[in-house]
Amino acid sequence: MEVMSRMLNVLLGLLTALSVVGNVYAESDASYPEGWESWPVVKESMNLPADTVLPPDTSLFIQESVRAYAWINEGRGSPLTIRVNPNKLEQYKTHGPYTDGPTVVAVSEVEGIIWVTEHIGGLALYGSYDRQGQDISSRHPSLEPSFCASCHTTYKDICINGTCAEPVLATYTDK
Ligand code: HEC
Repeated sequence: MEVMSRMLNVLLGLLTALSVVGNVYAESDASYPEGWESWPVVKESMNLPADTVLPPDTSLFIQESVRAYAWINEGRGSPLTIRVNPNKLEQYKTHGPYTDGPTVVAVSEVEGIIWVTEHIGGLALYGSYDRQGQDISSRHPSLEPSFCASCHTTYKDICINGTCAEPVLATYTDK
């Protein structure tokens, strides 16, 4: 009897540990898009430094976007490169509708973070990887897919079909 209850306790402890781990380690929903390095660049942008002073009339959306990633590169900011799946360039120009598969990546050049947006059945999925394709969505709360969705899926007036940057037409005409 003694042994049985001890075993039960161990089992319960294990289950609790597992469920805690399950909560701590977020996983990317979007898959790692092999070959993104050769996708065409549609925009060179910035993760702004933490001490950036925004004009007082800056929209809430932009304020949140700047604040969310102010930790990047220890608050010093980092160039951000946006690359689009070559098969989806036309779709990206109109913010969709998107066909299935990886759509677009945003690459933090200093931190080496690859933010991925993929579409499946018209639904936008998000993920965070390093340059080796390792899932890093549990590295920081702002890298979890649910956090991505709080902007990309929630701000429907700005982020259409899960993509937020206005495509820069000049970069397309260069191609
Ligand atoms: C606080 C708001 C916010 C959050 C949270 C956020 N993003 Fe973004 N995202 C933006 C904005 C704004 C842009 C456009 C940046 C630009 O044009 O310079 C963008 C651009 C992108 C792009 C480039 C393609 C495009 O036009 O949308 C990808 C890919 C992307 N984000 C993925 C992600 C992923 C993956 C996450 C979560 C790990 C995430 N984002 C979290 C606001 C956000």
